[in-house]
Amino acid sequence: MRSSPAQAFASLTIAGVDEPIAIAGGATGPATLSRTMTKAEVIQGERIVLMPLRIEDAEEMVAALGDESLHRFTGGRPATAVELRERYAKLVRGSPDKTHTWLNWIIRMVDAGGAVGTMQATLIGEAADIAWVVGVRWQSRGFATEAARCVASWLVSKGVRTLRANIHPGHEASERVASRAGLTVTEGWVDGERVWARTNCRAAQ
Ligand SMILES: CC(C)(COP(=O)(O)OP(=O)(O)OC[C@H]1O[C@@H](n2cnc3c(N)ncnc32)[C@H](O)[C@@H]1OP(=O)(O)O)[C@@H](O)C(=O)NCCC(=O)NCCS
Repeated sequence: MRSSPAQAFASLTIAGVDEPIAIAGGATGPATLSRTMTKAEVIQGERIVLMPLRIEDAEEMVAALGDESLHRFTGGRPATAVELRERYAKLVRGSPDKTHTWLNWIIRMVDAGGAVGTMQATLIGEAADIAWVVGVRWQSRGFATEAARCVASWLVSKGVRTLRANIHPGHEASERVASRAGLTVTEGWVDGERVWARTNCRAAQ
């Protein structure tokens, strides 16, 4: 059940990556967390850092995510600078549905500072739907895995109890990322994609 910006950009986005996603369409608990937790924070990893997405990141991301092959499993096509700026402006404004919170980050290398991809979480109550993308030239270096682990830990530390991702069957790299972040495949399907989930999450004491 996608939010309205998704429909607006459906033909050019990576579904569940470029636009906010909501897999199950409902909260797993009281919808308090997604109402109170409204801002992405800086999340520090070892080799990467997740920086809250800004509208001015659009120009850099057009080049970083400009490959058709990134859309192989998810559909759409690379966005132009104008399209991406417009999309990021919507993401920064946040969900018009106040029971949903959109959190978006740029994944940056700690050493070089350059952007390698994006990470997204849509909070619905105490559940978070997460999605990731890493530009082709930085793939297979473990960046998506590290970013997914970082965002999962951060979300759980904030009180998120369920993590979910919808992944096209046969998208091995994304399945590996989900698995490394502690998600397992479920019986659920959304829009032809398998739902992966980690339930009953608890922050480390
Ligand atoms: C999915 C994606 C983010 C992975 O990014 P990445 O930075 O290359 O991922 P990692 O380097 O952390 O690798 C994750 C795992 O996938 C494996 N992998 C990487 N590329 C692979 C490929 N083409 N085929 C199979 N496995 C692959 C890695 O070996 C690694 O496995 P391991 O943990 O057993 O070593 C990236 O391919 C991508 O952005 N794809 C397009 C967008 C997309 O489909 N996003 C998913 C939406 S949910």
